[in-house]
Amino acid sequence: KQVPMTRRGVLCTGAAFASLSPLSPMRAAVAQQSDEPLRLRAAPSKAGLRPAPYGLTDVWSYNGAVPGSEIRVRQGDRIRVLAENRLEEETTIHWHGIRTPNAMDGVAFLTQDPIPVNGDFQYEFDALDAGTFWYHPHQRSFEQLGRGLYGPLIVEEAEPIRVDRDVTWMLDDWRMTNDGQLSNDFGNQGDAMHGGRIGNTVTINGQIPDRMAVQAGERIRLRLINAANARIFGLDFGDLDPVVIAMDGQPVAPHAPDDGIIVIGPAMRVDVVIDFTGKPGDLLSVNDVYYKDLEFRLVDFVYGSEALRQSVPDWSMVLAPNPLADPDIKKATRHQIVFNGGMMGQMMMGDGMGSMMGQMRQGNIWFINGKAANGPIMDPLLTLPLGTSHILEMENRTAWPHPIHLHGHTFRVIARNGQATQYLEWQDTVMMAPREKVDIAFVADNPGDWMFHCHIMEHQAAGMMGVIRVE
Ligand code: C2O
Ligand code: CU
Repeated sequence: KQVPMTRRGVLCTGAAFASLSPLSPMRAAVAQQSDEPLRLRAAPSKAGLRPAPYGLTDVWSYNGAVPGSEIRVRQGDRIRVLAENRLEEETTIHWHGIRTPNAMDGVAFLTQDPIPVNGDFQYEFDALDAGTFWYHPHQRSFEQLGRGLYGPLIVEEAEPIRVDRDVTWMLDDWRMTNDGQLSNDFGNQGDAMHGGRIGNTVTINGQIPDRMAVQAGERIRLRLINAANARIFGLDFGDLDPVVIAMDGQPVAPHAPDDGIIVIGPAMRVDVVIDFTGKPGDLLSVNDVYYKDLEFRLVDFVYGSEALRQSVPDWSMVLAPNPLADPDIKKATRHQIVFNGGMMGQMMMGDGMGSMMGQMRQGNIWFINGKAANGPIMDPLLTLPLGTSHILEMENRTAWPHPIHLHGHTFRVIARNGQATQYLEWQDTVMMAPREKVDIAFVADNPGDWMFHCHIMEHQAAGMMGVIRVE
């Protein structure tokens, strides 16, 4: 099968910010057929994160741009990517949320040898699920991701829902110094013990956003991807009523977000449909309200002088489900997973406190079931027979939120603090609030050793990861 893949290069201003046209040419760009793999070259480059007159920032990026080239295919297509490492250190590429065969998962030392300096590696896998995904390195991710190595991976549905525009916002935050360069304190202990590397500069598609032109009456599908190391976003669209239609790329019953705020933890994605119900000439701010007392204006929607239509269209927002195996909740095996560590956490004697203290003296800060993992060779936390259903009863005994990610599988979030969830949403990364209990269920249907970790990159690097084996 051929590889239809666009090479649009930089996403930046084109899609999100400069276009006044209500009908973006995006969809037309999809069906380029090619035998050649898409090349993703990881290398140092410069990026204009800040508007003129500020200078450029030294970053590491794919194909010279932040975000890296958008990969856009149709469901069922084969994706072939030639990763070229032109960094000064080893790297890999992980396809976050995509259910690949284990050897294509891109985890250094677990599923492949890291790609050496000046080396290449070809990835090849089928896009089984439609949805909004992304890619990033899985080797020293706290620095490689933090310096700008990431890009969007969009798998279009066979029959997409009807919208006027399909827009991707890849959110990130950066810790910048006054001279506009990245602060070099990657992986420091203070960040690792607290909420991770929170930056001081937020970008959408690699630029500090200002305004996005919209038209009264238009309907936009907005694909939100959180590529930050640690920042959690909580987006408030003011008078607009965004409808959540997919979480982590997986369709969900269309619904309004809780309290009207769209919360997106690191690595998570939310697809929303927004009907721009304002009037020509209106201006509407999108604010981030996640961190109390640190609210900020993210971007303004500026309405053009003409309305596209007068009323809200009645087009369906329901996406077709992906081919995921539904876990058998009654027969599923239950496993307890306890997260410990960090500042102000509760470590109880029953959690194996003595052993954790010993591991802390070796520089570890976070633990899963009493074990901190930071070396290349990890004994599995769990070994699950292929094809069987499992429930992970996860408990966050720390004072911090954690976005917990499982590779190779997509799970249903079935309960929070013992209460069944309303939507049984499919996710690959789930936010756990401090002290929260979250139950997830899945069929262990993809053989191999799979990472299971917190996606706050500094927590992962300080021990908050493990391996789940399916065989
Ligand atoms: Cu987004 Cu283990 O990865
Ligand atoms: Cu964490």
